[in-house]
Formats: sequence, structure tokens, C-alpha cells
Amino acid sequence: MTMEYIEPPPAIKLDDKKLEGKLRKVLPHDKDESQIIIQKAQIRDVEEILELVNGFAASNLMLPRGPQYLYENIRDFIIADDRNIPIYSLMKTREVLHLIVACGSLHVLWKDIAEIRALAIHPDYQQMGLGSKLIEYMMEEAKQLGIRRLYTFTLTEDFFKTLGFKRQNRAELPPKVWGECSRCPKYFQCDEIGMVLEL
Ligand SMILES: CC(C)(COP(=O)(O)OP(=O)(O)OC[C@H]1O[C@@H](n2cnc3c(N)ncnc32)[C@H](O)[C@@H]1OP(=O)(O)O)[C@@H](O)C(=O)NCCC(=O)NCCS
Repeated sequence: MTMEYIEPPPAIKLDDKKLEGKLRKVLPHDKDESQIIIQKAQIRDVEEILELVNGFAASNLMLPRGPQYLYENIRDFIIADDRNIPIYSLMKTREVLHLIVACGSLHVLWKDIAEIRALAIHPDYQQMGLGSKLIEYMMEEAKQLGIRRLYTFTLTEDFFKTLGFKRQNRAELPPKVWGECSRCPKYFQCDEIGMVLEL
């Protein structure tokens, strides 16, 4: 007999829209001092990515993810970290913190299509162009792989519209796209919109 362990997604609270307390606080600092680096994720980033993604998931803004998913798909992920978050210790000496402030992933599904998943920008770093930069990075990766079409399921249609994505009727999406949906806790009450970008 063989047995397979399938990790259950963390529970989501469908009625709780407040983000307060669910994401780590970034100490107030002048954003001009930020030094943001966008790069491929590594194993050591998994915990911070989970914290970021599941902080939003707890407010039903995106799908929850578990460590098994993250480790298995770590090569899909990119991160942005701020290498210059200043803190002042008790000795009043200035020290610098690293913090992952955004992530996203590109998951190839078939010869001509890949999905953008788990795009999350820390609230203190939104509306600064970081989400667009991450998508552009993944568009470039997709092109290099020979992928011609990107799609995503999202609650933020207007953000993806600014990047050229167009709303797509679910029935017109290839069946391969539905694999992820069947594992989603929102399967029977899905409120997300399918969007597609031809590269
Ligand atoms: C949605 C999200 C990824 C946008 O990232 P961001 O870094 O704030 O976006 P940008 O600064 O690159 O914005 C690019 C454009 O989209 C617009 N935009 C950003 N977020 C938007 C939103 N929620 N609704 C409508 N428009 C939005 C911006 O105003 C900007 O428009 P402009 O170019 O005309 O000025 C980010 O708010 C986020 O992580 N939200 C929580 C999780 C989530 O919803 N993720 C999407 C997963 S499917």
C-alpha cells in the first residue's frame, strides 16, 4: 500500500478583511532610503514568503499557501527585499534590517501558458510600482522560456489591466488551468476573475 500526504491549506477567515496584526510591521523610515533588490527566491526565503502571502490570505485577499507548496515550487518564485531598513538599537547605534517586502511566482502549466501566482506586496510598499516591476520580471522570464501567454486569477482586476491583461471568460481558459482551482478552498464560492496577457 502506498500513502501520499497532501498538505491541507491553512484555514482562512472569510469574514475578516482587516490586515492589521497579520503582517509584520515595517518600521517607519524614509522610503528614499529603501534599497530594493528583485531576484529569484532561495530556500532561506520560504518562511518570509509564507508570512507575507498568508498575511493577505487571512484577509481573503489571496490563496493561502503551505510550506510544502513553497519548497516544491521555490524555483517559480521571485522576491523583492529591502536591504536598507534602518533600526536603532538600545545603544543608539544604527543597524540595518533585511526584509522581504514582495513576492510573486510564475508557474508553467503547458507548452504555451504559464500562471502568475502568489503576487503580494507588503502594504507599506504598495503603490510604488513594485507589483508592476515583479510582473515585468516574470514576463521576461516567460518570454525566455518560450511561453506566449500568461494568465492569473485575481481580485485586483484594475491592477492587471494597467499591465495589459484582459478579462477572460473562464470557459475559454484551457482545462489545465483548473488543476489549481480544484485544490482551492474557494472552489465553491470563487470570486476571482480570470485575466490573460498575450506576450
Ligand atoms: C495588487 C498589488 C499586487 C499591486 O501592487 P503595487 O506594487 O501596489 O502596484 P503598482 O504600484 O505597481 O501599481 C501599478 C498600477 O496599478 C494600480 N493599482 C495598484 N493596485 C491597485 C488596486 N488594488 N486596484 C486598482 N488599481 C491598482 C496603480 O494605481 C498603478 O496605476 P498607474 O500606473 O496608473 O499609476 C498589491 O496591492 C498587493 O499585493 N495587494 C494584496 C495582495 C493581492 O491582491 N495580490 C494580487 C494577487 S492575485
